[in-house]
Amino acid sequence: MRNPSFTIDTPLAGQAVGLSGFASDLLAGLSRRPRSISPKYFYDVAGSALFDRICELPEYYPTRTELRILTDRAGEIAHHIGPGAEIVEFGAGSLTKVRLLIDALHAPQRYLPIDISGEHLEGAAARLRADCPGLVVQPIVADYTQPFALPAVAAGGRRVGFFPGSTLGNFNPDEALAFLQGAARMLDGGGLLIGVDLIKDPALLHAAYNDAQGVTAAFNLNLLQRANAELDADFVPDRFSHAAFYNAPMQRIEMHLVSRRAQAVHVQGQRFMFAEGETIHTENSHKFSIDGLRTLAVKAGFGIGPVWTDPERLFSVHWLPVTAAQ
Ligand code: AVI
Repeated sequence: MRNPSFTIDTPLAGQAVGLSGFASDLLAGLSRRPRSISPKYFYDVAGSALFDRICELPEYYPTRTELRILTDRAGEIAHHIGPGAEIVEFGAGSLTKVRLLIDALHAPQRYLPIDISGEHLEGAAARLRADCPGLVVQPIVADYTQPFALPAVAAGGRRVGFFPGSTLGNFNPDEALAFLQGAARMLDGGGLLIGVDLIKDPALLHAAYNDAQGVTAAFNLNLLQRANAELDADFVPDRFSHAAFYNAPMQRIEMHLVSRRAQAVHVQGQRFMFAEGETIHTENSHKFSIDGLRTLAVKAGFGIGPVWTDPERLFSVHWLPVTAAQ
């Protein structure tokens, strides 16, 4: 049975991404030990622009590698997706990657990009409509980690999810499972095309998150500037430094902001003491094995389809069909 309204019940889904959510999450995150904050707060206007720059960096292989896989294997991917698909993209952004897919698909019925940033999404959707006149593009402004409604699938249509960029890796394992379970329910009769970063030489991972130009450091530190601008905080960004390292047992890159000295910081009138070297844990970026991703997908209710990788096996794109009713 197809369900037009889609609920993803993850721990990330508790708060709207907005001033009050950011305020309460940051206050709670600074009060716990170890200190932490969700990476979703990286993406204000400045943070989104910095992320776009990260994607262009020579050290940050995921974006260009995934684009290469999608370009080279578009025909095969389209064959597995089949004709008449209705594409739902989670966290669509500027719609660059989906264009490769749409060009290769046979008679796609409709494209539903979901993104929290309405203005950005409408602009990108208008450009896509102009370039693909036969395609129905229906943007949905929503936080896809929270409950949202989708229009009913058109007669004869099949829903196919698209979740590129290894964004799944930014969830913790429970959140990733909950997201995939929600997606499997929503995509019954169709499937999910998902891109995830692979476990590899830690030196390559280290370079990707510690680029020579310092763009990733600026992206991480921008969180403090955002807190100053939006939450009446008084972080001095120079008193913190960017740290990113591979945690091998957890199979993830961790990003932290490290206090360079003992200091006091105020957020919304509350005072927080930092010892020298104390950190705020700002992001996890989990890396997967192909079997690990497939095991998680099967647990969530997907079947196993083909996987496409680059020759160096840096990145993977998986087709996960949903055949049985969830
Ligand atoms: C969006 N996400 C998949 C990126 C990643 O690699 O985890 C975010 C990022 N953080 C630092 N560089 C890129």
